[in-house]
Amino acid sequence: MSAFPDKLEHCWHPVAYASELEDDGPYSATLLDVPVVLWRDDAGRLVAMRDVCIHRGTALSLGWLADGCIVCPYHGWRYQPDGACADIPQTENPRIPSKARVDTFQCVERYGLVWVALGDPPYPLPEIPELEDGAWRMVDTGPFPWKADASRQVENFTDFGHFPWVHPGLLGDVDRPLVPDHSVDTRGHVLHYSVVRPEAPNTEDFPVFANEDVARPERISHYELHLPYTIVLRLGWAGAKGMVYFFASQPVSADRCVGYCVIGRNYDLEQPDSVLQSFEDTIFNQDQRIVESQRPEQVPFDLADELHLKFDAVAVAYRRAMQAEGLAYDHYMGVVYDETPG
Ligand code: FES
Ligand SMILES: [Fe+2]
Repeated sequence: MSAFPDKLEHCWHPVAYASELEDDGPYSATLLDVPVVLWRDDAGRLVAMRDVCIHRGTALSLGWLADGCIVCPYHGWRYQPDGACADIPQTENPRIPSKARVDTFQCVERYGLVWVALGDPPYPLPEIPELEDGAWRMVDTGPFPWKADASRQVENFTDFGHFPWVHPGLLGDVDRPLVPDHSVDTRGHVLHYSVVRPEAPNTEDFPVFANEDVARPERISHYELHLPYTIVLRLGWAGAKGMVYFFASQPVSADRCVGYCVIGRNYDLEQPDSVLQSFEDTIFNQDQRIVESQRPEQVPFDLADELHLKFDAVAVAYRRAMQAEGLAYDHYMGVVYDETPG
């Protein structure tokens, strides 16, 4: 039995950048310990299936595509996009047993990412008009595979207290470590919060933010944290220039995740993508060693397990909301918390 809550499995999760799927496949991915094979049918439609042949359990992703089907590499059984087996070469009997099929999963491409839901998704994908507006330029950064649970990677992305310490001179200013007051408005599965916080001036290596002429810049950040593992961050500097950070973490297993960070900007449209990409490589590398050291590997959703101070309001709200929505799990106990602490 899976250690993950059903509802967590049913959510949309990213499994790849669409640009990583260079041809029709097959490609393999893992979501919450479930092996998934991705491929395109004859109409170019993306198909997601359990990456396990019903015959002897071979990974279909090791096979190949033929006549709009995926072919198992072991004995050549062919599976249609709907998961039904269409051909068993070892027998002349034309009747295919009804059990000869593999599970299929919902799969969509949006915001340059491939999303899979292992069940009926309880929440829609976030709406981010900027990322579908031709006036904004989108840059894919990462992906960032970490030895940590997706909850840790998401929490780190939105942690305000660490910027001066982990990213001095890039995202934070060590002379201004105070976290500004902020409050979290939790509406269903989405946490809304905003901060105006100190940031470091642009560096020569990474001129990526629109704060050029200010000695002690501040950035205005509006966050939407969409449970379980997706963040929409809109940031600006009081002018017309704006950025959108769209971050989503793929829960590979209880101690593995992959982060995808799509960045949209309405300025510096000519800047090569490599500038933002290497900036984020630097930032995510600085975070990775910290987060991979955290124990337990998953965010402990029981508030009593850690020490929370006032500036940890987002972390507290995230734990409460994950429990209230039935998305929290305790990997070590294999138990889903069903009570929200007071
Ligand atoms: S294991 Fe797939 S056809 Fe035999
Ligand atoms: Fe960070």
